[in-house]
Amino acid sequence: MAKPIYQRVLVKVSGEALMGSGDFGIHQETLDRIARDLVATQALGVELGIVVGGGNVFRGITVSQQGIPRVTGDMMGILATVMNALALESAIEKAGVAARTMSALAMPEICETYERRRAQRHLAKGRMILLAAGTGNPFFTTDTTAVLRAAEIGAQAVLKATDVDGVYSADPKTDKDAERYERLTHQEAITRQLKVMDATAFALARENRMPIIVFSIQAKGAIEAVLRGEGRSTVVSC
Ligand code: GTP
Repeated sequence: MAKPIYQRVLVKVSGEALMGSGDFGIHQETLDRIARDLVATQALGVELGIVVGGGNVFRGITVSQQGIPRVTGDMMGILATVMNALALESAIEKAGVAARTMSALAMPEICETYERRRAQRHLAKGRMILLAAGTGNPFFTTDTTAVLRAAEIGAQAVLKATDVDGVYSADPKTDKDAERYERLTHQEAITRQLKVMDATAFALARENRMPIIVFSIQAKGAIEAVLRGEGRSTVVSC
């Protein structure tokens, strides 16, 4: 069996991935499957930090178009990521691995507050960490959070789990001529304005020479496959 190509990674799970075939909230079977995939990945000897999005519950940018101020909408989105992290934490623990949610914003009655060295300690003790509440600031996405936290905890890559199997020149769901890329540089992703991540996230990854691997989480075992260097994905690197 191929050895994992990284020993510590940051997995970014979009909020939408938790909806399964639904269009809102959390689909319990999908949540449990993703948790089992994460647990199986850790069993390969990989330490895992996880950033979850909040788009299955709330999108700041969408509500702000409907009249709520952007900053308020973003903060509501931030709270949605905490709910998702707590749900995934429970599912991971049900699947047999200790997990700790750490929030960028202090809410001590609910979960730990993010602190880099304590996060490192959890990883060293074999726990998974769920890094919630984004960066704690409006105007920053959870993709940017994923790259930031990856750099902070010394992860070797960001694994961006989405519902498509890589990065395309346009949205493959709406444009049948969209071209799929095998490899890209961070700079190419910025210059071509590829929508898979925001430019802030790509720029931070470029500055930190952090590879980003974009893959679909729809299939069981997808995270493990990426770590074995198998499966379909796009690698965004220097
Ligand atoms: P070690 O010290 O490495 O053994 O970590 P630990 O997390 O097992 O020990 P600790 O006694 O710090 O935490 C015990 C439990 O309390 C864990 O579930 C933590 O996630 C939780 N916990 C720790 N700090 C906080 C906090 O500020 N708020 C909340 N809600 N829970 C916390």
